[in-house]
Amino acid sequence: MTPVPVAVLVSGGGTNLQALLDALRDSPVARVARVVASDAGAGALERARRAGVPTVVLTDPEDPAEVVTATGDAPLVVLAGYLKRIPPAAVAQLRWRVINIHPALLPAFGGPGMYGRRVHEAVLASGVTLSGATVHYVDEEYDRGPIIAQWPVPVRPDDTPETLAARVLAVEHRLLPQMVLELARLGVPQRPVRLSSKGSAFVTGDKLAVEIE
Ligand code: GRF
Repeated sequence: MTPVPVAVLVSGGGTNLQALLDALRDSPVARVARVVASDAGAGALERARRAGVPTVVLTDPEDPAEVVTATGDAPLVVLAGYLKRIPPAAVAQLRWRVINIHPALLPAFGGPGMYGRRVHEAVLASGVTLSGATVHYVDEEYDRGPIIAQWPVPVRPDDTPETLAARVLAVEHRLLPQMVLELARLGVPQRPVRLSSKGSAFVTGDKLAVEIE
């Protein structure tokens, strides 16, 4: 099997990119083929260079043609801390091939402006006792595309945005590579799939055993 090329889009420090680079390094299933940044200052670019992965910096993230070209025909495109909107014309061309990781249990605590620390602040302010990570398809609306899988993380009474963010991020680093590998194994289906554990999109337990729904 030739590994499925994966394009990873980044804007920030790139710890999720690093998790993908580490998990896919010797994988026969998928490989990080290129890293596309919305910003030349993204720390993630350095991680890509260190791993010997080609990088592209977008001149205009609003230009659908540029975005599509930058993905280099990779069958799977992963937003890993990518803060720009994918232009609708690019979403249409890449339908069911673009996935995102979000640091909360969507559809709660998502949408425009809900990123980084703000997500965890909102979770804590709401009083919910459960947060988590969500991997979902990207469609025309921020954080609204069909959910692929979620991993719950309990909110502790003494949590701060930082402690909660750190616990969710640790889960993201496990969930995202696993979902990329599962989608690649399935040949990146041209319809939305939900990857489930024990009959729900919630991944439970410490060992990720995922099946398709
Ligand atoms: C993660 O929390 C991810 O869920 C969100 O942005 C953050 C990116 O962190 N979309 P990093 O750049 O991968 O470290």
